[in-house]
Amino acid sequence: MKAGNPNKFARYAWAVLGYNIFVILLGAFVRSSGSGAGCGSHWPLCNGEVLPRAPEVATLIEFSHRLTSGLALLLVGGLLLWARRLYAPGQPARAAAKWSMVFIVVEALVGAALVLLQLVGDNPALLRGVFIAVHLANTLLLLGALTLCAWHAAGGAPVQLPKGAEAAAVWLGTVLLVVVCSSGAITALGDTLFPAASLAEGLQQDLDPSSHLFVRLRVWHPVLAIGTGVYLIVLARMWDLNGEPAAVRRTARTMMAVVGLQWVGGTLAVVLLAPLWIQITHLLMADVLWVLWVLLVATVHSVRAPSVSRLQPVPA
Ligand code: HEM
Repeated sequence: MKAGNPNKFARYAWAVLGYNIFVILLGAFVRSSGSGAGCGSHWPLCNGEVLPRAPEVATLIEFSHRLTSGLALLLVGGLLLWARRLYAPGQPARAAAKWSMVFIVVEALVGAALVLLQLVGDNPALLRGVFIAVHLANTLLLLGALTLCAWHAAGGAPVQLPKGAEAAAVWLGTVLLVVVCSSGAITALGDTLFPAASLAEGLQQDLDPSSHLFVRLRVWHPVLAIGTGVYLIVLARMWDLNGEPAAVRRTARTMMAVVGLQWVGGTLAVVLLAPLWIQITHLLMADVLWVLWVLLVATVHSVRAPSVSRLQPVPA
């Protein structure tokens, strides 16, 4: 490690992670309030101006999302510069800072493409669903890289997955979680574009073969979410956490509790027709669940730990 204060860097990295989650939630607010076209199809300018004059509410919402995400880009840039000063090449915190930069640039490009291709407002194009799913998957990669950066900076040892079934099990859990979240983003888009007046009407729409694809896909998100949640819980229970520090066991328990909360939150979203506060809470908890999953996988597989397979049945 080069000269500098790694504790301050770790605190900064956690703060950048928290700030990025805030920007993501603001992005969901842009979608659910239909403000994505608030700056017209202009990017990076807003309605052709650097600073919109006499803006409407939608313009204010979209513009504040652009300002806050621009600041997020600068903060991640700062993270990378600081990591390069503090750590030698190849050190995990520095590598994670570099990946954070890559993913936030992709995030900005996908956001810009949504605006420039006019995949905003009430545009129901299928391409919009693809972009939204990719946007959310990339968001998770960004949060994962920021989480690992902060965790390594705070003293987390390098991570190495043992080969074989163990690695496959971890990758499967990771991919499933990304797919669940991306399918949730399409569900949210369907709810925004084709709102139902009642639960019965919503269910009718879901089953109607003439409904838009986003609406017909809605039914799959809960199915995937329940299956994936069960899988993550089983995996966490099978990891032999007995020898791990209390903090690791706490992370595992918290992750399992968040899966349960997501099930409750998702059910409320269906029953109450997804009011804004539930949309935001459900997305926040999805991000928290992802961060906890990344932390759990990292702590269980840091090189301190024995490299033998950790998959062991939990004693009854
Ligand atoms: C592991 C559990 C779950 C995860 C990680 C998860 C994740 C997500 C994510 C990331 C979104 C997109 C939010 C947005 O872009 O604004 C979403 C939306 C949604 N989820 Fe889930 N979800 C889970 C469980 C469930 C369950 C069990 C249900 C139903 C019983 C459900 C119902 C919904 C609904 C209705 C939406 C759309 C809300 C809206 O209109 O904004 N979710 N979910």
